[in-house]
Amino acid sequence: MLRTHTCGELRKSHVGQSVTLCGWVDSYRDHGAALFLDIRDRYGKAQVVVGPDNDPELKQLARSLRSEFVVAFTGTVAPRPEGTVNPKLATGEIEVRATSLRILNKSLTPPFQPGAMDLPGEDLRLKHRYLDLRRPEMQRILMLRHRIIKVMRDYFDELGFVDVETPVLGRSTPEGARDYLVPSRIQNGKFYALPQSPQLYKQILMIAGYDRYVQVARCFRDEDLRADRQPEFTQLDLEMSFVEAEDVIGVLDGLVARAAREILGLQVKLPLPRMTYDEAMETYGHDAPDLRFGLKLIDVTDVARECEFRVFKAAAESGGRVRGICAPGGAAKYSRKAIDELTEFVKHDFGAQGLVWLKVESDGAVSGSAAKNFTPELLTKIRERLEAKPGDLLLFVADKFEVTCKALYGLRKRLGAELSLYDPKAMNFSWVVEFPMFAYDEEEKQWAAMHHPFTAPRPQDVPLLDTDPGRCRAQAYDLVINGSEAGGGTIRIHDAEAQQKVFNLLGIDAEKAKARFGFLLDALQYGAPPHGGIALGIDRWVMLFANLDNIRDCIAFPKTQKATDLMTEAPGEVDPKQLRELGIKLASP
Ligand code: AMO
Repeated sequence: MLRTHTCGELRKSHVGQSVTLCGWVDSYRDHGAALFLDIRDRYGKAQVVVGPDNDPELKQLARSLRSEFVVAFTGTVAPRPEGTVNPKLATGEIEVRATSLRILNKSLTPPFQPGAMDLPGEDLRLKHRYLDLRRPEMQRILMLRHRIIKVMRDYFDELGFVDVETPVLGRSTPEGARDYLVPSRIQNGKFYALPQSPQLYKQILMIAGYDRYVQVARCFRDEDLRADRQPEFTQLDLEMSFVEAEDVIGVLDGLVARAAREILGLQVKLPLPRMTYDEAMETYGHDAPDLRFGLKLIDVTDVARECEFRVFKAAAESGGRVRGICAPGGAAKYSRKAIDELTEFVKHDFGAQGLVWLKVESDGAVSGSAAKNFTPELLTKIRERLEAKPGDLLLFVADKFEVTCKALYGLRKRLGAELSLYDPKAMNFSWVVEFPMFAYDEEEKQWAAMHHPFTAPRPQDVPLLDTDPGRCRAQAYDLVINGSEAGGGTIRIHDAEAQQKVFNLLGIDAEKAKARFGFLLDALQYGAPPHGGIALGIDRWVMLFANLDNIRDCIAFPKTQKATDLMTEAPGEVDPKQLRELGIKLASP
């Protein structure tokens, strides 16, 4: 080892010892008589002093150091002189008085200082990711990521789960996104698809008797990217045999409690709260509600039907809904102009036709431009229904159910933050269960799987497959952390006939099913046990546990919104020879 200690390790107890530290030059202060250098590695920072007592050669060499040079300093640990102790630094009580210096490598002037407080633009960070990953904050996040994965692996190992790797070159595994395709050289014209998830392999492993499978699996989905989505991401993927939804949820509850305790020092009460998909949509307008705060959506469609207000009445009478939220203390906080902005927000971002508002005055009277449309009785009814107090602002959207969901969900999220209704550091874990089996795809004029096509309906809903698929509920469960979908799974269909029936509803007839999923339909006929599982989005877990809002910060080498890696410049062009070998001719250069 070139070093005796790491840069974060030295304390008062080391005073008097001769040590060698290796690291990067973080900062450099030349006070004439003495040079003060901070040396950084992933464990921390230590101050090295080259003082008047050092020989001129060492001083000269030390003066040639620049930011990010890699150095090995040998010296003696000494207490910092009185008044110069830095309580913010773990090593702040000591310094190392240098006796020798070796420059292990030089550095060009970096485009940004990894040790500096101000953050450079993200493109620059991604281009020079090696410098960005040197930043203590990034190192903290990647260390946290390592610990989260370790907790997961240990937990499942203790429960008898077997880690099995599944192929990356395979057949399409539909999870609702486009596939990334890999052309075959050996079989020109044929393509592998990168897995959107290991879904079918893990089901096959259950059929093969592995009983409890787990894997930290890389998944690939060519879809529109957002702050919490990457084209290439990591799942903690698992599957269990002889289980019901309850069992999978129970195992995951245990993991959540353990991760919260070991990573964040939080005690989480089990079982985690659960609500059905229908309750979630009704109460929060979304299937992954943020339960760190209330601000529930309240239905007033019945009141709307009774009133003379055209906007409300028309929505109520045409099968739509009128729903509202009560923003506590919002009357003073939101001026007319601010409410106009909220109106623009729900119109522009969510396609709502408008936003109706009322304010509750200090005497309990309800005011606002829309108030005149209601009788005093109806105003009282509305106020009571929304449990509004003096000073509260009431906001309503009248529209199709889906539009009220989207608009009020967006509004709730915005008001929750703007009115500081929750501690941004708080953690909230919950389940949303019993999702619909299908959602109607208006474009394709066709049912689509809400989770994936291998999901089993609730036993009592099986007859609905023939009569009313839209009302059929699945044995499905999503884990929600702070309003983010942090995992999702289902109990699977383990009967070939039932699987084909669901395929038929999804427009995959027997012939297509045989071509795409023949291996699964075959396997299901050779003794498939009842089974189910879940996959957790590890990148999202890291993002939520680290209290970040950008998934790219949780991945060592992420892609941009345009799915590019700015450091390697992938995707890139390829040699025409490679294309010829693959039998590929580009339509456009
Ligand atoms: P699902 O598609 O819900 O389920 O994915 C599971 C979890 O993975 C995370 N996730 C993503 N994270 C980052 N970027 C993405 N593009 C991305 N897409 C999904 C989410 C999500 O909850 N095979 C099933 C699981 C199962 O049924 O067992 C599946 O993949 O946190």
